[in-house]
Amino acid sequence: TPRAALVVVANRLAVERTTAADGSAGWQTSPGGLVTALVPIMQAKDGAWVGWHGAPDEELEPFHHDGIDMIPVALSAGEVEEYYEGMSNATFWPLYHDSVAFPEFHREWWDAYVAVNRRFAEAAASAADDNGTVWVQDYQLQLVPSMLREMRPDLRIGFFLHIPFPPSELFQQLPWRRAVLEGLAGADLVGFQVPGAATNFLNLLRRRLGWDTHRQEFVRPDGSRGRAAAYPISIATQAFEDLANSPEVVERAAQIREDLAAETVFLGVDRLDYTKGLRQRVRAFGELFTSGELDPEKVVFVQVATPSRERVEEYKRLRDDIELLVGRINGDSGQLGRPPIHYLHQSFPRDEMAALYRAADVMVVTPLRDGMNLVAKEYVACRSDNDGALVLSEFAGAARELKQAWQVNPYDIDGMKEAILAAGRAGKQETRRRMRALRKQVATHDIDHWAETFLADLDAI
Ligand code: G6P
Repeated sequence: TPRAALVVVANRLAVERTTAADGSAGWQTSPGGLVTALVPIMQAKDGAWVGWHGAPDEELEPFHHDGIDMIPVALSAGEVEEYYEGMSNATFWPLYHDSVAFPEFHREWWDAYVAVNRRFAEAAASAADDNGTVWVQDYQLQLVPSMLREMRPDLRIGFFLHIPFPPSELFQQLPWRRAVLEGLAGADLVGFQVPGAATNFLNLLRRRLGWDTHRQEFVRPDGSRGRAAAYPISIATQAFEDLANSPEVVERAAQIREDLAAETVFLGVDRLDYTKGLRQRVRAFGELFTSGELDPEKVVFVQVATPSRERVEEYKRLRDDIELLVGRINGDSGQLGRPPIHYLHQSFPRDEMAALYRAADVMVVTPLRDGMNLVAKEYVACRSDNDGALVLSEFAGAARELKQAWQVNPYDIDGMKEAILAAGRAGKQETRRRMRALRKQVATHDIDHWAETFLADLDAI
């Protein structure tokens, strides 16, 4: 194994192993905001990335891809079920997102979670240089910090949670709450998306574990100290803007407008996940099309829903619901060759996404709960024309920074309908005033700013 001064540990590697119909193996970019955010950092920093390569029961040697040293961790098919689909995505994921779906608690899942966390900790321990830095990512690996601290006391350990951290009323349902708190608190610096999440965590350390805390600092039973604070994550703003301004993307955006042949294009882009508020959003558009407040002859709503966690029950149910709803609305309000909703259950490369962002008049991002939401920031980064409106849920971490968006409560369908109409009808001047302010925020708070702030604070401990 190559040894590195900076090691990132995440459940997924930046790329996943794919097998084509003819049996040949290839690589494709892993889904989600975590990979979007970390790839540019790791390319710049020459670090190593420890993660799962996405194929069950397959052992792989370390390899170099896209300028990053990748160190694959193998998972058995049973571990994929119990640690990844079970404990990570049917327990922690819903519990940490306000329990918008019912979290399941199973002891076998927990046992697998502990065992897999240990494997990641061991891989990180053998990948890190003496006195190196290991940066552990997200809810799948919450026990890694304390395990690593025991294995390698010389290391500096950071942890960043990409998703929300719940209020104690919800967290306390977790039968393994103590182990999770102690696991996270093994890090020298525990980072969250928003200040409220750090506060929730510190309060739990005090009330549940009886530890001392002073402002952002906590004291472990052995007297050593750590910190917890907010570091709102972002994107490679300039790179996204450059991509959106490339002649190919500009041309593709014009082509999309021509193909859609609409006066106004609304756009949604999400992993197909029940936290994203898709049921409510599609219902809002359905009502607007049926009532004629949005004219189905002149307006289209494009929804890209990237396939995600397709073997988890709640995701299957969501897919069925959305596809039923979309079909019903298109059946009721569509005309030959003109469905009002264009629903794409596919994942697209970055340049196609940039073209879609450029082609849209209004971007609609309405999660019920979201750690940050990088799609909203990508849209803003692509609008160097200062045009385009953003409708954004109050319950996305991004709402704290993207104040000039049309903010909505996604549970309030009527309120959402009003905001969708207002954003669609706003004059050029109003839209530009808001977009300029949004762009300033995203330009000055990019992914480098995020990583540098976190790593500098970690270094200072
Ligand atoms: C979110 C999570 C990531 C996760 C991604 C994609 O962004 O914070 O940890 O990797 O979703 O989900 P998946 O289960 O496919 O890795």
